[in-house]
Amino acid sequence: MKKLFYLMLIILGSGMAFCSSPYTKSGRGEVNIVPKPADVTINDGFFILNQGTAIVADSGTEVNSVANYMADILRPSTGYVLDVKHEDAESNRIKLRIDKSVKGNEGVYNLVVDKNGVTISAPEPVGLFYGVQSLRQLLPVEIERKSVQEGKEWDIPFVIINDEPSFRYRGLHLDVGRHFFPPSFIKKYIDLLALHKMNVFHWHLTEDQGWRIEIKKYPKLTEVGSVRKETLVGHYGSDKYDGKPYGGFYTQDEVRDIVAYAKERFITVIPEIEMPGHSLAALASYPELGCTGGPYEVATTWGVFPDVYCAGNDQVFTFLEDVLTEVMDMFPSEYIHIGGDECPKIRWKECPKCQARIKNEGLKNEHELQSYFIRRIEKFFNAHGRQIIGWDEILEGGLAPKATVMSWRGEKGGIAAAKQHHDVIMTPGFALYFDHYQADPATQPLAIGGFTNTKTVYNYNPLPKALNEKEAGYILGAQGNVWTEYMKTPEYVEYMAYPRACALAEIDWTPGDKKNWDDFVKRMDVHKKRLKELNVNYFDGPMDAQNPKKQKKK
Ligand code: ACM
Ligand code: ZN
Repeated sequence: MKKLFYLMLIILGSGMAFCSSPYTKSGRGEVNIVPKPADVTINDGFFILNQGTAIVADSGTEVNSVANYMADILRPSTGYVLDVKHEDAESNRIKLRIDKSVKGNEGVYNLVVDKNGVTISAPEPVGLFYGVQSLRQLLPVEIERKSVQEGKEWDIPFVIINDEPSFRYRGLHLDVGRHFFPPSFIKKYIDLLALHKMNVFHWHLTEDQGWRIEIKKYPKLTEVGSVRKETLVGHYGSDKYDGKPYGGFYTQDEVRDIVAYAKERFITVIPEIEMPGHSLAALASYPELGCTGGPYEVATTWGVFPDVYCAGNDQVFTFLEDVLTEVMDMFPSEYIHIGGDECPKIRWKECPKCQARIKNEGLKNEHELQSYFIRRIEKFFNAHGRQIIGWDEILEGGLAPKATVMSWRGEKGGIAAAKQHHDVIMTPGFALYFDHYQADPATQPLAIGGFTNTKTVYNYNPLPKALNEKEAGYILGAQGNVWTEYMKTPEYVEYMAYPRACALAEIDWTPGDKKNWDDFVKRMDVHKKRLKELNVNYFDGPMDAQNPKKQKKK
């Protein structure tokens, strides 16, 4: 025993700190990374991070940015100011190497931990970033603390990880229309996406209940459209209101700051500007954009409203093109989401301008008028080198030529779009709507309804059996949606999003044949502790809770 002690001292003194058994440190030596990497080999021993450990990074702005990001994560709890160096070090180092010989999907990386330290290799900086996320999850969960943990040993198990994502679109959405969340929370939401190797934040910015993004050319959108006079209390249909004005919006500076923050974490922000429906807040600001001319009010309750943009009025397209020009200037993403869902046709049926448009364009009906609307907007975007995403209603009346379809009313829309050789993002309500209850409603705060526990999310396969191999190639990935009618606070959003978003990350990242529910549950025991350290208000009940309604029916 003594001998081992002296050996340890020598090793520590040499700066190559490791010990030989993976199970000597309170069960550590297990790998609990979420999402589960494609391939992991665990070897005997640990590398121990200390104040002498160097970060060795290849030169290049983006690699440097990843190295600094990692140093920022490691610093608060360890207290170590780990220098980023460009010259190599044989031992006691964390190396970030660009290596074009590492081949695989976008984000591929290799991570090796041995007696010399850590080596992360990837052909692109994004892979190094994902390697850093895995390294972070190999460290004790206390690494996430914001104060120095005196005496804590920062052991990292010896591993060889070869990893790459299964899908190239790995998204989580947030509705800031129904409730507004401050920029600080949006950044925390993005940080959590980064932890889980997700790469898209779908920011739902305009709604009937509030317009949340500053548009310089149309100041009333935020002066009028960002505030509703009161909000429904309790569940839909309660007919009770709180009598309190509610509002909020993001300035263009705040938006640019968030987009840049996400980019440093290899996350694309896709904004959604809803049209032609879900546009009451815009109509309240500029009533001339509706079929009847108003007056309109920003909605105070939830649901679908009959007043939508007039499809027969060219002024509407001028307005939208102006708005979208400012939006494109703030968001460099290839894709912009244009909504397209839940657009009642009642007003269009009675509107002389809309009917004249149908006649003049040789359209069959109001569904084709909606297609006309979306195609016209798509043409505008394509002329600026951008692509549109729309909810699956954009299939009705004919798809715009290059549109990507977000399938939410089950998988039917996604299947139809893939068969038409259009790109698809799967976000079916039954599996990926995180506004549903995740446990017995009697035990839960108010939610919109439905029932989707974490196990249902985990077991979802974004590739429907109805597609052949070529058609399946149009499925870009899966996304979870967080609609916030009943989520008034950041804490509530986190409660609904986690741990379901962890399961989502795994269906997007981990190869289907490596997924295993029991293994996920085991890893989540540790991962939840990490979420707790990160002050995430996740739902801590059973992830496979039963739906009592379903049990009763049986
Ligand atoms: C949607 O949930 N209306 C896309
Ligand atoms: Zn009209």
